[in-house]
Amino acid sequence: MIGSLVATAFWAMVPAYVPNNAAVLAGGGRPIDGGRSVGGRRLLGDGKTWRGTIGGGAAGVLLAIGLNVLQSPVATLVGVDLPLFQPLRGAVGLALGAMVGDVVASFLKRRTGRERGTSFPGLDQLDFVIGGLALAALFAPDWFLATFTPPRLVVVLVATPVLHVGTNALAYLAGLKNEPY
Ligand code: CTP
Ligand code: MG
Repeated sequence: MIGSLVATAFWAMVPAYVPNNAAVLAGGGRPIDGGRSVGGRRLLGDGKTWRGTIGGGAAGVLLAIGLNVLQSPVATLVGVDLPLFQPLRGAVGLALGAMVGDVVASFLKRRTGRERGTSFPGLDQLDFVIGGLALAALFAPDWFLATFTPPRLVVVLVATPVLHVGTNALAYLAGLKNEPY
């Protein structure tokens, strides 16, 4: 029961979980803010690039397409009725929203005097979740309501920050990240 609830919630969120990590690989080139500063501080900073944002978003959508192919065999294997990303614009909302949430978080960090790469506890763990869910609800309202039922939303909002902190700490210990957050 609880197992299938967690499995369906995480399956549905994969297109929002992947983009920020993919952006690290895709990033570089022209920053979104074009180098502009306001009040002596960058608008977003060199950590938010067009390439990273578009590459990260595309990675999330591609993964959703892959999960749609796997949905039926995996559902049979584990005996859980896993959600489909259909229409695909729900997954586009999840992926793009995850990137937009991260960009908005950078904006808030710069406005509050936080340099590039610094942490903002709370915001760091939820920016991509809130952004992804918000754009998915906007792009595909019916799919969103059917897929993110209240119990699944609770699982996502509670488990994602825990998972995020855990995976980042592991990546730091493995030498993949410079900061443990
Ligand atoms: N990245 C990118 N475009 C994005 C998000 C991330 O190019 N929209 C790339 C950048 O190379 C960035 C790296 O992924 O440095 C890690 O992302 P993140 O931790 O979000 O950026 P920070 O460099 O820490 O910058 P900020 O403090 O603004 O979050
Ligand atoms: Mg960072």
